[in-house]
Amino acid sequence: MSDKPLAVIVLAAGKGTRTKVSMPKVLLPICGSPLLDFVLDAGSALEPHHTVVVLHHEKERIEAALGPRFERDKILVVDQGTPKGTGHAVRRALSELDESLGAPFDGDVLVIYGDTPLITIETLQELVASLHRPAAGMQFGNGSPKAGAGAALLVSDTMPPEGMGRILRDEQGYFVAIREERDCSEDELEIMEVNTGFCAFQAAVLRDVLPELESSNDQGEFYLTDAFTLVLQRELEVETVFAHEPDEALGVNDLRQLSEARWVMQERIHDYHMARGVRIEDPATTVIERDVEIGAETQIFPFVVIRNGVRIGAHCEVGPFSHLRVGAVLDDEAEVGNFVEMKKSRLGSGSKAKHLTYLGDTEIGKRANIGAGTITANYDGTNKHVTAISDGAFIGSGTILVAPASVGEGATTGAGAVVTKDVPAGATYIGVPARRHERSGGDGPKKGGDEA
Ligand code: UD1
Ligand code: CA
Repeated sequence: MSDKPLAVIVLAAGKGTRTKVSMPKVLLPICGSPLLDFVLDAGSALEPHHTVVVLHHEKERIEAALGPRFERDKILVVDQGTPKGTGHAVRRALSELDESLGAPFDGDVLVIYGDTPLITIETLQELVASLHRPAAGMQFGNGSPKAGAGAALLVSDTMPPEGMGRILRDEQGYFVAIREERDCSEDELEIMEVNTGFCAFQAAVLRDVLPELESSNDQGEFYLTDAFTLVLQRELEVETVFAHEPDEALGVNDLRQLSEARWVMQERIHDYHMARGVRIEDPATTVIERDVEIGAETQIFPFVVIRNGVRIGAHCEVGPFSHLRVGAVLDDEAEVGNFVEMKKSRLGSGSKAKHLTYLGDTEIGKRANIGAGTITANYDGTNKHVTAISDGAFIGSGTILVAPASVGEGATTGAGAVVTKDVPAGATYIGVPARRHERSGGDGPKKGGDEA
């Protein structure tokens, strides 16, 4: 990468009407995060000096959802006013950036879109770097070498071209212009090389060409895409860079594309875990959101949902049909099975909850056995309460633990017990409500659990 300062401009002021849902498009989630979060992640991985997000429609809702992140990453939020096209959006962003700096920003400018979550860091790096590549053998039309790249454009020839701007080139193959689909002739529509929308500029060049954009097109908008032709007119080069992966530049315009993007991201997440020794029997039915940790040799069986931030140790078993929600933690060798839901709960190492169980706000020690049908009743209609189950406890089938409650080390509850108070270590509690059961001779009650 060059050592020039970098400013990233994220365009997200559009209305996104094609999703047909009220949630602003860039807030629609895939794999546990809003689309815009993925875009900001890719941008911030480049360690830019400045990030500007251009908003307008639903600005308040987007700020309410992502405000903390905007603050943390020192993101400058610009209201575009009535959106008048991508060129207008970038013009607003650059002038507000200049104003906030008290001087014209001098460096590289990278423009990305808020609805393209699949873009990779490598591709963005390459795009920015191409601004500074020595122009090997590149000649201008009249044979004179150009003064370097004023702009760079990410293109693709593997995406479905529908709805995309087409790349026009001259006989030598040099970039000439981008033509929006709606402004294309029949012949131009046949072109498979398209504009992904990602682009980079030298700030001074961008500042110079932006005022010359015109809105004399089918939509009456100021197209950023026209800026490249203006760059050429200044005898500066426009570099074109090809995206690495076919899906990288997929923009989410409707809910079908949202699900496509989710699946690509899901495969990347699966690949990440499988490369680290996690056995996923059936990826097609396994949902693993982002920021999940899973230790090596853990097995994930089909029909499992693992939400954002869940932590799973090594040599665990999960599923089939398990739902691990926010705050679920499995220590090494823990097992959860069919129709088990966990939320804000820890299952200590070697502990098992194999069938038909809800564990909410529950801390479970090591080698505990949670029998089939165990429920932690953590919610009294107003507040949530905590359950604690200590090492080696044996929770009989169908036990209900009415929180706050605790089961001491090595203690046992009988089948169907409704525990409403603390069960001391080593004790056996049975019945409804559960009370202490003294073992007579060697002839105690059947434990009534299932052997997981
Ligand atoms: C744009 C490109 C097209 C490219 C395609 C790739 C232009 C003129 N066209 O078309 O060549 O193939 O992306 O997906 O740039 N936005 C604003 N303010 C505006 C207008 C748009 O912030 O005034 C934002 C939108 O929220 C969106 C992005 O810019 O995130 C792209 O806008 P959109 O209207 O979707 O452009 P396309 O017609 O898809
Ligand atoms: Ca679009």
